Amino acid sequence: MKRFLVLIATLLVASSALAADYVPTEECLKARAEFNEERFGIFIHWGLYSMLADGEWILNNKNINYEEYARLAGGFYPSKFNADEWAELFKEAGARYVTFTSRHHDGFSMFKTATSTYNVVDGTPFGRDIVGELAAALHKNDIKLHFYYSHLDWYRTDYWPLGREGHGVGRPDGKDGDWDSYLAFMRTQLTELLTQYGPIGAIWFDGYWDKKKFFSYDELYDVWDMEREYGLIHSLQPSCLVANNHHVKPYPGEDIQPFERDVPGENTGGFLAGLEVSKLPLETCQTINKDWGYKIVGSEYKTLKTLLVLLARTASKGANLLLNVGPRPDGTIPDQSADLLRQMGAWLKVNGESIYGTEAGCISEQEWGVSTQKGSDLYLHILNAAKIEGGTITLPYETGKLLGAVSLSDGTIVKFTQKKKTGIVIDVPAFDEAAEDFVLKLSFKAAL
Ligand code: GLC
Repeated sequence: MKRFLVLIATLLVASSALAADYVPTEECLKARAEFNEERFGIFIHWGLYSMLADGEWILNNKNINYEEYARLAGGFYPSKFNADEWAELFKEAGARYVTFTSRHHDGFSMFKTATSTYNVVDGTPFGRDIVGELAAALHKNDIKLHFYYSHLDWYRTDYWPLGREGHGVGRPDGKDGDWDSYLAFMRTQLTELLTQYGPIGAIWFDGYWDKKKFFSYDELYDVWDMEREYGLIHSLQPSCLVANNHHVKPYPGEDIQPFERDVPGENTGGFLAGLEVSKLPLETCQTINKDWGYKIVGSEYKTLKTLLVLLARTASKGANLLLNVGPRPDGTIPDQSADLLRQMGAWLKVNGESIYGTEAGCISEQEWGVSTQKGSDLYLHILNAAKIEGGTITLPYETGKLLGAVSLSDGTIVKFTQKKKTGIVIDVPAFDEAAEDFVLKLSFKAAL
């Protein structure tokens, strides 16, 4: 513990001043802009925990002995895992990137690592590098690969002192604790992830919050030696973006601001109280059912309507949606998840231009729905038909000179009037009110 505190004291002095100087490189800025166009990604939580079919926190939540849990690896054999099938499904869903749990809080690596045999290649009878196969399949399908990477660890004995979680798994009391060794281990693994699998779109950290028992959030930046870790990522792959799911304002070296289970600016999930929306590219992550990791009971799937409303609402805030699926232990994606993804893809095939490459719309959220925009086009996403009064939607006259309007799904011409006194009054054409998101495309004379 003493060694830990000395190390931290040194870090605090050494790095705080430098961190403020972070200037993203041109490659990084270009990658941020590309990310901002993508708007839809798939999150995958898959690991040994999937075998216990009760979510990814089971080791901690059920106080399972960490060595006993590790024995699951001996039985990990996802006989139906087929990376090409996954990639084709995600392509059909219209996803532009996939964020995969390379190592979750349980400490098991789903990739080939030289740091320990507790990984899918050296520690399981399966013996195949899942991350490697996934990388190849995604790249072939032109889908980017991002890595989820856990800071928090419930398995390693050098992760010491413990933070908020992982006290009941039976690790020896700090005897082997060596924070410096843990930080070095993470740097080695990040180097592996960024050199073994081709271009990586982003590293998505999670678990930073575990240490807030001892330190303020600002101090944590140095405790975790973030400047060095972020610097390593950016130097190995300058276009690899960094996101950290710490639930507070972004720190230097971060390129994406993530929002767990909420669209930017809201806090219905309880994780994001008081969190301001920054100027960085934004990303909301949410589950397709209730949980991140596979659960065999009580999965409570969201409806297609809920998912498409979420997609439109995130895009209307200028954010991407990272939608999670939890594969089964045999390596297949649960049928309900796959069906929902295909249906989202079918909607995107027709309406994708109102989502991809758009920015937050200039018309703020209304009872009937939301807006997105691109150049001189404004997209009105009607999410709640019952809230359209008198069959019309009125926009402020100042929005600009409207040249024409159509329904995006079938090109039906939409009538409108534009007067200084009454504003732009759009005659909403008849449509199937059960439609999840009915989009009108309005073309203005000048960029909005
Ligand atoms: C939380 C959980 C974690 C999950 C993540 C996804 O931070 O700890 O299990 O991976 O959210 O957003």
